[in-house]
Amino acid sequence: MQIVDSRAALQRLSDEERARGLRLALVPTMGALHEGHLSLVREARARADRVWVSIFVNPTQFDEAQDFEGYPRDPERDLEACRAAGVDVVYLPSVEEMYPEGAATWVDVDRLTEPLCGASRPGHFRGVTTVVSKLFLAAKPHVAVFGEKDFQQLAVIRRMARDLGFDVEVVGAPTLRESDGLALSSRNVRLGREARAQATVLVRALDAAEAAVASGERSHEAILSRVRAEIAKAPRARLDYAELRDPESLERAAGTLASPTLLALAVRFEPDPDGSGGAVRLIDNRVLLAR
Ligand code: PAF
Repeated sequence: MQIVDSRAALQRLSDEERARGLRLALVPTMGALHEGHLSLVREARARADRVWVSIFVNPTQFDEAQDFEGYPRDPERDLEACRAAGVDVVYLPSVEEMYPEGAATWVDVDRLTEPLCGASRPGHFRGVTTVVSKLFLAAKPHVAVFGEKDFQQLAVIRRMARDLGFDVEVVGAPTLRESDGLALSSRNVRLGREARAQATVLVRALDAAEAAVASGERSHEAILSRVRAEIAKAPRARLDYAELRDPESLERAAGTLASPTLLALAVRFEPDPDGSGGAVRLIDNRVLLAR
């Protein structure tokens, strides 16, 4: 496995591999790799001859300094996980490499970035689209794989790639879950014991909404009130948002459920009363289908 820290070296490597007719897949990550990331690596492997992983905790996508500072980092473990997963190249750029002194250029997607996480985390998606553009320009992959847990992120990156004409196929891979249903996330390790036990409230709320739809409920307001009632059962959980949206445009879906509709959730957990764990915000989603 090759470890590359400069953009110029990565671009050269990409040119060489492409000239040999090899298909390159990139899995962009912020490290703290878990089984969910490794499933993205497997998806990438199925679609390409070479799998490249980037590991970069991108400062510009954090709207809270505390969240950036507390974000889990373990580069040695990450490299070991990549090696074991058969990754061919790991791109490990520094902040200076990604954002040279005086960097003043941003990539910003309108509209799709306004609701949901865009409303709760101002500037977040501008940081994501800027860094992903830089990664695409550095690695020049044929395909890039992202998790569907970050549904809005995937939609935004797809739109960015289309609008800017990146010659990259953007692929979404299904969310992986713990045995109790909690979606895998690098942030899970920062939950206190009580918060971790209650974090399954997200998947339970999604299940409750799905069960309501299966039993014939079509009113958006009724579905969302089931979701809110479920979240309210977890005393350490604070609902950030629960919304029903069109899965393509992310526009608010009004009224009744007639077509596939995205249920997107974000929930905050404070540190446990004994001070253990950190402030953690988790997201999850499901596309609801009226059959
Ligand atoms: O999903 C993530 O881990 C990040 O947002 C990404 C896509 C690697 C950009 O920093």
